[in-house]
Amino acid sequence: PRHLLSMSDLDAAAIRTILDTATQMHEVQHREVKKIPTLRGRTIINLFFEDSTRTRSSFEIAGKWMSADTINITGKGSATSKGESLRDTVRTIDAMGVDAFVIRHGASGACHQVAGWVDAHVINAGDGTHEHPTQALLDAYTMERRLGSLEGRHVAIVGDLTHSRVLRSNLISLRRLGAAVTLVAPPTLMPSGITSWAHRDGFTVGHDLDAVLGGEGARPVDALMMLRVQKERMSGGYFPTAREYTVGYGLTRDRLARLTDLNPEIVICHPGPMNRGLEISADAADAAQSLVLDQVSAGVAVRMSVLYHLLAGADGGADAAARVPR
Ligand code: CP
Repeated sequence: PRHLLSMSDLDAAAIRTILDTATQMHEVQHREVKKIPTLRGRTIINLFFEDSTRTRSSFEIAGKWMSADTINITGKGSATSKGESLRDTVRTIDAMGVDAFVIRHGASGACHQVAGWVDAHVINAGDGTHEHPTQALLDAYTMERRLGSLEGRHVAIVGDLTHSRVLRSNLISLRRLGAAVTLVAPPTLMPSGITSWAHRDGFTVGHDLDAVLGGEGARPVDALMMLRVQKERMSGGYFPTAREYTVGYGLTRDRLARLTDLNPEIVICHPGPMNRGLEISADAADAAQSLVLDQVSAGVAVRMSVLYHLLAGADGGADAAARVPR
């Protein structure tokens, strides 16, 4: 596709191509000298209207390692603080002749709007509660490296599902890669209409975490994805309370021990940033089963791959390695 706005832009073959190229880029990432000429002469604008540590820095590193010129612009410090509209902002920068926008915005659908206004490629780096496609790609990459193919694997996604763009992108990608998915959240943090959505898209939904993870007849979980409680999107305070949340839905030390007894190979993911002590205990975040830092590392390789395929990969990635000098 011309843009990456949603995981639904990528069919299973396209996801596989991006993950395969990411494997080549991961090897570059571990070299002493990482600079490759693949995107020399290209200009990438990281336009972030919401805060970010992982996504913004990994896109910047990915672009720089591929010899692109990368420029970071945040809402604060840009002319949007003087009242300039998003449309005028992106059309202004587009007029300079840039090649790609990587955009994070608080409004769901903002990246789709921008794609209609500019000539450059647009990559969604998280739009409101809608989607975060490169997060889903790096999650799939990370889980596959530990578990092998996700076909037939069981992934449980637990947490503040109402506000999670990571959930929405992962649901599409995991189903396309053949995984079975179970969602767990308190009823107050479950997206509305989830039952018909689950019926249509073939995933299951539960409210009792311990029943899903190890109850009588429960399907063993291969990967447990803990999602952040997004307090900043809960203007009216959050419910259940922090204490109730941790007791019912947190990955505590005791829960992790029970899970590991059931399946010593289980892996734990969290997209970050983590609320340690709320949705995940420090013991679980730093446990041998935790892939949190592997996810961060994969974020650079996967974003290199996405930039490659959008900006340079007209051949479908077959020459990605050839264009990476040894
Ligand atoms: N996972 C993620 O998107 O993290 P950042 O908000 O730090 O980019």
